[in-house]
Amino acid sequence: PEQKTALKERIKRLLKEQQAVLVAHYYVDADLQDLAEETGGCVSDSLEMARFGRDHPAQTLVVAGVKFMGETSKILSPHKRVLMPDLDATCSLDLGCPADEFAAFCDAHPDRTVVVYANTSAAVKARADWMVTSSIGLDIVAHLHAQGKKILWAPDKHLGGYIQKKTGADMLLWQGSCLVHDEFKGIELELLRRQHPRAKILVHPESPEAVVAQADVVGSTTQLIAAAQTLDADEFIVATDNGILHKMKMAAPGKRFIDAPTAGNSATCKSCAHCPWMAMNGLQNLADVLESGRNQIHVDADISRKAVLCIDRMLDFAA
Ligand code: 13P
Ligand code: SF4
Repeated sequence: PEQKTALKERIKRLLKEQQAVLVAHYYVDADLQDLAEETGGCVSDSLEMARFGRDHPAQTLVVAGVKFMGETSKILSPHKRVLMPDLDATCSLDLGCPADEFAAFCDAHPDRTVVVYANTSAAVKARADWMVTSSIGLDIVAHLHAQGKKILWAPDKHLGGYIQKKTGADMLLWQGSCLVHDEFKGIELELLRRQHPRAKILVHPESPEAVVAQADVVGSTTQLIAAAQTLDADEFIVATDNGILHKMKMAAPGKRFIDAPTAGNSATCKSCAHCPWMAMNGLQNLADVLESGRNQIHVDADISRKAVLCIDRMLDFAA
């Protein structure tokens, strides 16, 4: 493989030549995050990634993240070319919610408003009334609850349970979970907090209830980075993918960040605090797809026409 700096220069040149823009998530490799920023792209949470890709004039979007992020970008901009470094980069929530089983679940509960998390396939979104991301799910469900709506929620049981508790909404939950966040442990976190009594606890809501219950701030990746920057504390325990630490350290220099405890450690547990699918994005495969035009995202036109409705509903609500 080429040296890192040479690869980065090649990617910058290819982005320019192809008039492409790089849209990255906070969990991907730090080099990719930096490249996205340096080249006028964006690094952000999944809500902002969707909005940025839709609004940017570039006709080629390169999405460094996981498949549902590429699909959402393509659904919002069907005429743009959407590339991803590795098309096998999926998500355990997406895998755990097959479209046919989900359709049967919806059919069995026709009286409920269907709200799905962004981390799902386009075919699942095509069955939904609303799509939400972690940054706005609470507000949207509170809004639906105020209208007296009963909700069918999928797929993340922890995020769904958290929203249910906060809003008091009637929610029927699909039982999916994220294999990374599911590893964070409540009892071990309590013990760690005793060793760091002044630390503030930042938690992504895909984490189990016992972990969320100890949080000072629960939020999307963007919201957690903002909290690290603004909260008056110099130590934080962070329960989310450790890819986020790159940006957190930049946003809050001088502050100390500690990984929340998981059952295993990085030597024994492949998905502990780092998403194996986000990790499939690298400089080499990014350069290769830009060069070759391979790994284009395609979404069936009929599915896309249906799925766009629930995504637009969220973006209109967020606007
Ligand atoms: P955010 O929308 O908070 O970035 O979360 C996406 C995700 O996949 C978290 O695991
Ligand atoms: Fe999916 Fe979890 Fe990876 Fe996020 S961290 S993409 S929810 S598997």
